[in-house]
Amino acid sequence: MTRVISVISGKGGVGKTTVTSNIGVSLSQQGEDVLIIDGNFSGANVAQHFGLGFNDVSLNHVLEGEAYITQAVAKHPAGVSVLPASILEFNADAENLKHSLVDFLGEKDFVLIDAAAGVGEEVEAAIEASDEVLLVSKPELPALTNTLGAKKLAEQLERDVVGLVLNQVRGEKSEVEEEDVLDLVGEEIIGRVPDHEHVREGIALREPVASYKPNSRASKAIEDVAFRVKGEEVPDRGLQEKIVMHFNEFNPL
Ligand SMILES: Nc1ncnc2c1ncn2[C@@H]1O[C@H](COP(=O)(O)OP(=O)(O)O)[C@@H](O)[C@H]1O
Ligand SMILES: [Mg+2]
Repeated sequence: MTRVISVISGKGGVGKTTVTSNIGVSLSQQGEDVLIIDGNFSGANVAQHFGLGFNDVSLNHVLEGEAYITQAVAKHPAGVSVLPASILEFNADAENLKHSLVDFLGEKDFVLIDAAAGVGEEVEAAIEASDEVLLVSKPELPALTNTLGAKKLAEQLERDVVGLVLNQVRGEKSEVEEEDVLDLVGEEIIGRVPDHEHVREGIALREPVASYKPNSRASKAIEDVAFRVKGEEVPDRGLQEKIVMHFNEFNPL
């Protein structure tokens, strides 16, 4: 059974695209067959995270009936399939998006949809095309409040919530404490991804950190999220893995 999950946050800039791309890579490293779809037409970024060219056939062409979906899907060396969008004038049509997924249902293990910010029609279309949503937020009050708004929209549309991923965690005192996060959003925190330069390096190099530096602290945190998305226990990291992770902190590019 294919699980179609849209990644939503309410607020922009909290790491939806980063988390979606990396969870996709991580799931694929764990043997799952994954398709990542850029459902953010007003701010399409997935292609850049994977180093795909701008002129390729995109989801926009598919939804406008100008190309077959197979022409728009690119296979990334990290193992995931990617369906990029381009920033073109586009009328987000939930039915169209849902319809375009039909070919993948039963074929892929996971389809991850990187949604737009806010709770407008683009986000609604992404949620409607999915069965479940994954919430992403920074551990800051404004972001968490908007995440609650996005969760409410998913509930109105009767979609299941997989959980909440806290991204760009710095461990600073100013961050909202976990108990308060739970009180506010009312969802289980299924991962804490550190704010780390390796993530930014990956973005600059146009390769998700999960494939660019798979043993880094950020990638391991993402890997944990991938296990939890699958409903599996996170494996206990042995001493050797912890040492490798530690040395990765100091590894020059
Ligand atoms: N875990 C992280 N560590 C460091 N920087 C991050 C992390 N996650 C996101 N960022 C930074 O935040 C920016 C916005 O992330 P992005 O995934 O594009 O957010 P969104 O899709 O929610 O708008 C990235 O370009 C990157 O610079
Ligand atoms: Mg984005």
